[in-house]
Amino acid sequence: MKTIAVIGVGYVGLVTGACLADLGNRVTCLDINEERIEKLKQGIMPIFEPGLEEVVRRNVAAGRLFFTTDYDEAINRPPAEMVFIAVGTPEGVDGEADLRYVRAVAERVAEVMDHPLIIINKSTVPVGTGDWVADIVRSRQPQPIPFAVVSNPEFLREGSAISDFMNPDRIVLGSLDREAAQKVAQLYLSLRAPIMITDLRTAEMIKYASNAFLATKISFINEIANICEALGADVKEVAAGMGYDKRIGRAFLDAGIGYGGSCFPKDVKALAHMANIQGKHPQLLEAVMQINADARRSIVAKVRNLIGNNSGTLRKLEGKVVGVLGLAFKPNTDDIRESPGIDIIRMLQADGATVRAYDPVAMENAARVLTNVTLCRDAYETAEGCDALVLATEWNEFKHLDLPRLKQVMRQPVIVDGRNIYEPAVMREHGFIYRGVGRGY
Ligand code: NAD
Ligand code: UGA
Repeated sequence: MKTIAVIGVGYVGLVTGACLADLGNRVTCLDINEERIEKLKQGIMPIFEPGLEEVVRRNVAAGRLFFTTDYDEAINRPPAEMVFIAVGTPEGVDGEADLRYVRAVAERVAEVMDHPLIIINKSTVPVGTGDWVADIVRSRQPQPIPFAVVSNPEFLREGSAISDFMNPDRIVLGSLDREAAQKVAQLYLSLRAPIMITDLRTAEMIKYASNAFLATKISFINEIANICEALGADVKEVAAGMGYDKRIGRAFLDAGIGYGGSCFPKDVKALAHMANIQGKHPQLLEAVMQINADARRSIVAKVRNLIGNNSGTLRKLEGKVVGVLGLAFKPNTDDIRESPGIDIIRMLQADGATVRAYDPVAMENAARVLTNVTLCRDAYETAEGCDALVLATEWNEFKHLDLPRLKQVMRQPVIVDGRNIYEPAVMREHGFIYRGVGRGY
């Protein structure tokens, strides 16, 4: 059992804290957001993440998991051996990662620590940040106390975060202090995953390179989808056929609306920024980002082509009603950061459309950022009076809709499927005008 502090109770921090407690450690999770901590103390989760509530409840009850807003309590009472930094690193100016939250944590940790500490960075941070954190801590400590900095990037996905944390493909640890990295490695031994120990900068780069590669797979298949559309091939079958090749693999070859979320968009941009300021030309990354933006635009183009006005005086979608199914950036999360669905709604509105929308869990978050959108109770209410329906997130409940009922409530039976969850032939049989992504026509 180790005594651990985790700073930041977002998707990564709360999952890390809860799972490390579940592995038998004593964990104190800290956040500056008092409301979040208050809710957690009452057993209310600040985010939607399947299985999280149960793990939190179990470990709070077992006396292994605690919540606080007080840095001194989290780090010194009782003395933590390790502190994880798991705060946000959002997109800043020119795509550069904004490190203000990491800086604030490093400063507070340095100010309060009264014993030696291993500072572990779990946030996704630009290469060189570990050294920078060490400098901040050193310069901010009231008196010198030994510490080590370890990079331990996180590879979990929202929606399957608990299972991803407990069943990792690998654990990456980077440090100049090998002994500290070995101590952190002990936390993960029971997970029976390969543990790679390397230097700080390499560990930081592994995280960006991994996310950029996955984003590249998505943009690659979206490019292929585009070509499939022109040539009459079916990208779903193409991806299946490619995926049998073990060197390629089927994962992350779902063509569609493009990647969204709090990570791929900002991380690809941040990596490109890192390259640019070193005088390198990250051409592949630039193309990945352009293809991704086009994937969203092409969904709106399909709607315009299918139901748009031809009159020169009207905006293309003026007088048209479009329903959007799915507002979270992917299923099984309430996260709407960089959500393609939200982006598409804004483009539809800019074209003059009236928009109706629904999401099984992200409605509350979406309501905060959307204006003039009628938020509905389910897919059928969303479809009422619509000239077109756009499927933006592949939630399970959208996969087996009552098609006759849907068609009956719509003004025009037009479906643009941004995630290829429906079969074109079946949709046509039911009398829909259907467009997927890269399915040939
Ligand atoms: P998040 O926005 O969900 O949570 C961040 C939390 O940090 C918030 O609760 C915020 O209040 C808190 N915070 C900010 N400043 C603080 C401070 N000074 N002291 C204490 N708490 C503070 O973020 P997230 O999605 O969990 O991402 C965290 C990091 O992990 C990012 O770098 C992200 O790129 C990376 N990451 C995220 C995922 C994911 O699936 N979300 C996966 C892997 C890596
Ligand atoms: C992603 C990575 O998968 C995690 O390994 C990583 O830890 C995390 O980013 C991070 O660094 O934050 P996440 O963003 O939660 O996880 O979700 P993914 O399942 O990777 O999906 C990302 C986006 O790509 C979603 O919008 C999804 O719809 C889209 N996607 C995914 C596709 O368009 N096609 C695919 O084949 C797969």
